[in-house]
Amino acid sequence: MTIPYKTIKTLYDRQNPYSAPLVECRCLTKIGSSKEILHIVCDLRNSDITYEVGSSFGLMPENLSPYVDEVFKPLGTPYRNFMVQTKTGESLTFEDFITKHANLSHITSRHFGLVQKYRPTTALQEYLDDSVKLRAFCEQNNLATFLTAFWHPSVPLQELVDIIMPMLPRYYSIASSMKKIGEFAHFMVASFYYQDAGREKESIMASYLKTIPPMTGIRLFLQPNATFIPPEDLTAPIIMIGPGTGLASFRGFLQERDATNASGKNWLFTGDRQKEYDFHYGEELTDYVQSGFLKLDAAFSRDSSEKVYVQDLMLKQKSELWTWIKDENAHIYICGDAKAMAKDVQKTLHLIAESEGHMTPEEAKVFFKTLRHEKRLLFDIY
Ligand SMILES: Cc1cc2nc3c(=O)[nH]c(=O)nc-3n(C[C@H](O)[C@H](O)[C@H](O)COP(=O)(O)OP(=O)(O)OC[C@H]3O[C@@H](n4cnc5c(N)ncnc54)[C@H](O)[C@@H]3O)c2cc1C
Ligand SMILES: NC(=O)c1ccc[n+]([C@@H]2O[C@H](COP(=O)([O-])OP(=O)(O)OC[C@H]3O[C@@H](n4cnc5c(N)ncnc54)[C@H](OP(=O)(O)O)[C@@H]3O)[C@@H](O)[C@H]2O)c1
Repeated sequence: MTIPYKTIKTLYDRQNPYSAPLVECRCLTKIGSSKEILHIVCDLRNSDITYEVGSSFGLMPENLSPYVDEVFKPLGTPYRNFMVQTKTGESLTFEDFITKHANLSHITSRHFGLVQKYRPTTALQEYLDDSVKLRAFCEQNNLATFLTAFWHPSVPLQELVDIIMPMLPRYYSIASSMKKIGEFAHFMVASFYYQDAGREKESIMASYLKTIPPMTGIRLFLQPNATFIPPEDLTAPIIMIGPGTGLASFRGFLQERDATNASGKNWLFTGDRQKEYDFHYGEELTDYVQSGFLKLDAAFSRDSSEKVYVQDLMLKQKSELWTWIKDENAHIYICGDAKAMAKDVQKTLHLIAESEGHMTPEEAKVFFKTLRHEKRLLFDIY
């Protein structure tokens, strides 16, 4: 059984996000870490938003001014103040549009077709006639470098606006419980770098959050998850598996179980690269362990010559883990990376069912399928 999910009504949604003051933005990873994860706190006190743990928020980033400036180099400064309309009918300056609503990374054949319509050139036509050449250009360029190469003022600006890819919201698992911290929301936001038009660019959300002044309004909306929630039965044990930012939801779960005096046992498998730098919320988790509230297994993948992942620690304790799952009806939650971690953790759960529960691979498959059906095996993966 899971807690009946409250129907959440709020004035705010994706089309009408709430502007939540940014109360805190600090680095969770310590100086010397090979990665960066931010701890973010947003103030919801002047909104009607109430959230349940296990849900996420959609946050709207903005493009930083150096990237916005790059777009205006080929166009010229006067374009900044030209009025344009978004697809939803909002009127704003082209500079505001580029800052808040535009995906500056992705260009498509439509950009080539538009300029070719008003100012035909053989160069543009060659791209339009050769899909391989066109794809290669789009992969290696962005809006600013496209405009630098091909822009012509005869193109109506609104038609350009209409084909610019939209800036989409980014979703973040809530890393707090309102029952513990009140009308605020905490998040863990990972920063990473990639190649954009031949130079290194930091991921948009982290770079935006690090740049804006404190108390700037972050446009956000709640994205409820009616199933990824702690058990209604407060005595039920839970097993939480979430390395890296996968810890976010479980910090919320632990705060909730603490605030509601849930007596069920809590077992967390988490970790990241190095204990010295990347033991996120290490003090809080250690306090929970010392008070007997939490059983913690933290895997640090880059502290030894051989990688240690959460599933390695699960295997080491497979007998006890199986007792929790089979005999004590623990609920299992997996949160974080979908591409590799979640798959490998599931494989490990199957191996444990085979070795400890003496199941065939087929029986293990049916066993976990039933758990999923009963909402005792749940995922928040991305
Ligand atoms: C339900 C859910 C919960 C989530 N929870 C969390 C969480 O708690 N913490 C967290 O950190 N993330 C979480 N995510 C992921 C998060 O939503 C974002 O996807 C992530 O933070 C990246 O967004 P960004 O704006 O920082 O990156 P962007 O800058 O938009 O980059 C995103 C990706 O696009 C690629 N890319 C973009 N532009 C280019 C380009 N020009 N050339 C090459 N590659 C490019 C990058 O390599 C990168 O992989 C969650 C996702 C979901 C769906
Ligand atoms: N595009 C990028 O450059 C980039 C960079 C960072 C994160 N991301 C994405 O952002 C999301 C969140 O990142 P994150 O910080 O939460 O996590 P993460 O950086 O992907 O990894 C967190 C921890 O999990 C370990 N790990 C890697 N593969 C694993 C596996 N198969 N099984 C179990 N553990 C594994 C990592 O070890 P090792 O790293 O030592 O192998 C690390 O210790 C992920 O979806 C990730 O793909 C993208």
